Amino acid sequence: MLTGIWWTAPGHAANGSQASPWGANYFPNVPLVTQDHKTVRFFDDLIKGKVVVINFIFTGCSAACGMETARLRQVQDLLGDRVGKDVFFYSISIDPENDTPEALKAYMAKFNVAPGWTFLTGKQKDIDLLRARLGLYMPPINKDNPGVIDHDLAVIVGNQLTGRWQKASPMENPEVLATQVGSWLSNWKVPPKVANPKYENAPVRLPTLSKGEELFRTRCVTCHTVGQPGTETAKSIGPDLTHVTRVRQRGWLVRWLKEPDAVLAAKDPIAVSLYEKYNKLAMPNLKLSEADVEAVLSFLEQGSAAFQAKK
Ligand code: HEC
Repeated sequence: MLTGIWWTAPGHAANGSQASPWGANYFPNVPLVTQDHKTVRFFDDLIKGKVVVINFIFTGCSAACGMETARLRQVQDLLGDRVGKDVFFYSISIDPENDTPEALKAYMAKFNVAPGWTFLTGKQKDIDLLRARLGLYMPPINKDNPGVIDHDLAVIVGNQLTGRWQKASPMENPEVLATQVGSWLSNWKVPPKVANPKYENAPVRLPTLSKGEELFRTRCVTCHTVGQPGTETAKSIGPDLTHVTRVRQRGWLVRWLKEPDAVLAAKDPIAVSLYEKYNKLAMPNLKLSEADVEAVLSFLEQGSAAFQAKK
């Protein structure tokens, strides 16, 4: 995936004093409709003069988009009440036929999306044009079956005024993304709020992590915590996993981690009750290998043993 590509033209943006080369003549001013049925114009209302985070999603997409939305929600949390004031988040549907404003609203509720982050739908041709202009258009994988949707998961972050635009990976550490958006793109006008913003300090990059912990940190922390039982409040997406290896049978956990979608589809009673409890958001099938499952479970087992010992 492309990351770290700056679209800044020479001579521009360094001091922010010159007009951006990417203005109304580059970005289409197409109409889009928000989750609240409000019609807005892409350039005039959404990005003009603003620092923005933009991605493309569709609510019927299970694994990848869910991970991405969960990750961006962490970035939103880090930026706090700046979101909606000097930083704006937009998720635009690439399946506008199915993603009505109601569908978008329901999706937002599943992820407890806070104010300042708008979900949008519109006309397919307008959205395709936007994807192309933002460098994220991918043709359907199978031309004979355009119903198969594939899309570029990159997030576009930019400052329309200074003309700085960057593609970022949604799997990037949330503190790094928050720093990019909140500080670099905002020309450092607001000091970074994050505790540990240096790239080399980002926890996912520590070389000494076990495979299980690394998997947990990169694939699971967007939705789960360990060591914080009872803190899964309105903000959490999935359950805290501190005790899970003691509460559930190993066989069940192995099956669940390999194919949670199949376990839920088979109406397994534990899966069904968790699904009801957690906002009807299905845990995505993360396509973990046998070895991944073993590694992540042994990390969780050790985590809960350590927790026991401390008590
Ligand atoms: C996009 C969010 C998301 C991600 C990413 C995710 N999960 Fe989940 N997980 C959930 C939700 C939501 C539930 C509750 C069940 C449901 O709604 O399907 C759950 C349930 C679970 C459970 C069962 C908990 C219990 O009480 O029995 C385990 C175990 C689990 N997840 C482990 C993991 C592990 C390990 C990873 C990473 C490899 C992971 N999850 C990644 C959302 C997620």
